[in-house]
Amino acid sequence: MTVKKLQVHFIRGEKKILLGTLAFRQRKILFEYAPEFIETKLEISPFKLPLKRGIQETEDFLFDGLFGVFNDSLPDGWGRLLLDRKLMTLGIHPETLSPLDRLSYVGQRGMGALTYEPEIGGATFSNHADLDKIAEEARQFEENDEDRFVDDLLAMNGSSAGARPKVLIPINGEDWLIKFRSSVDPKDIGPIEYAYHLMAEKAFLKVSQAKLFPSRKGPGYFGTKRFDRLGKKRVHMHTMSGLLHADYRLPSLDYETVMKATAFLTKDFGECEKQFRAMVFNVLSHNRDDHAKNFSFLMDEQNNWKVAPAYDLTFSSGPAGEHCTMVAGEGKNPKKSHLLKVAKLGSLTEKRALEIVDEVATATSKWESFAKEAGVSKTSLILIQKSLQSLLT
Ligand SMILES: Nc1ncnc2c1ncn2[C@@H]1O[C@H](COP(=O)(O)OP(=O)(O)OP(=O)(O)O)[C@@H](O)[C@H]1O
Ligand SMILES: [Mg+2]
Repeated sequence: MTVKKLQVHFIRGEKKILLGTLAFRQRKILFEYAPEFIETKLEISPFKLPLKRGIQETEDFLFDGLFGVFNDSLPDGWGRLLLDRKLMTLGIHPETLSPLDRLSYVGQRGMGALTYEPEIGGATFSNHADLDKIAEEARQFEENDEDRFVDDLLAMNGSSAGARPKVLIPINGEDWLIKFRSSVDPKDIGPIEYAYHLMAEKAFLKVSQAKLFPSRKGPGYFGTKRFDRLGKKRVHMHTMSGLLHADYRLPSLDYETVMKATAFLTKDFGECEKQFRAMVFNVLSHNRDDHAKNFSFLMDEQNNWKVAPAYDLTFSSGPAGEHCTMVAGEGKNPKKSHLLKVAKLGSLTEKRALEIVDEVATATSKWESFAKEAGVSKTSLILIQKSLQSLLT
């Protein structure tokens, strides 16, 4: 496939504004902001794609030469696997695709506020909400190489990112993201993530509304209300990975960088405090898969950047058991001293930082009750409890 040019639009509330043009020339990806977009003064990706006249190209080859803000529109993990499989059934080898071909497939269906034209092959929508059926299709696809369900799964995946099978579906006029188990996950991954959600709320983290959707066959599916949609409006979302061109497959970040980026982008100490609290929660709850795509920012209607609600909070291990994002140089066993170093960069006083650590620790010490409320199995409850007890002692 050979998409040479794409028009990118920025959906501002319900208004569609031309953002600029992406082009693929001599194996290079180029971008130019539209003159009318420059007048809006909106910095949609200030570090790696600053608002200015003329053609821009990135020096980084991290996302096959694509700018991080557009890479954020592409599915990865599960969504990419589905798309590649679909293309193979059509006789197209995925390796022959450029990032622009993939964006053209994303079209209007990406996360966040960006859309891509022309759109190819993306008009299929499937909206049955039989979650057990979707879970079974995902399992068949993963375990038995079943191509039969690719179209259905692809239509429901809607270009979302992340490793686990998931769907984006409207429920009573609201947009939700529902996650399924992949074959390497424990059977009660849904309840575990829901218990973490309850624990995060107790720790005063800002999280999106979440639910455990019932199943006829298992303990239920974790769903979260999408924060990149407000009714019919689309909200611009940028991951830390896309913003800084930080690799999310490798440990490439430290919370010190996360904090500096948050301070610079939001210019708001309240947002730095939010980021600090999320870090403390990840440390105290053994959420170590805290890679660069598991942090995002949102641009609000007043054009201010805010830290997105925390997501993908669950019991997890990073590379070699360490945190993907290091805490002031420490990935294995971060202590209070490491947390406090990061707090300083967000201009938190030591007193405030320690208060937050205490609040989060109070919540994580109640793991057992959240686990019971969410229906976590006894085995997982105990396993996680043991890991949590050894933290920050
Ligand atoms: N409530 C939400 N609203 C909007 N976007 C979300 C929400 N929750 C998650 N996302 C987006 O969807 C992506 C995938 O979600 P999530 O990280 O929970 O899935 P995952 O498959 O467990 O990911 P991973 O590959 O990190 O294990 C995230 O990177 C984020 O961009
Ligand atoms: Mg994730």
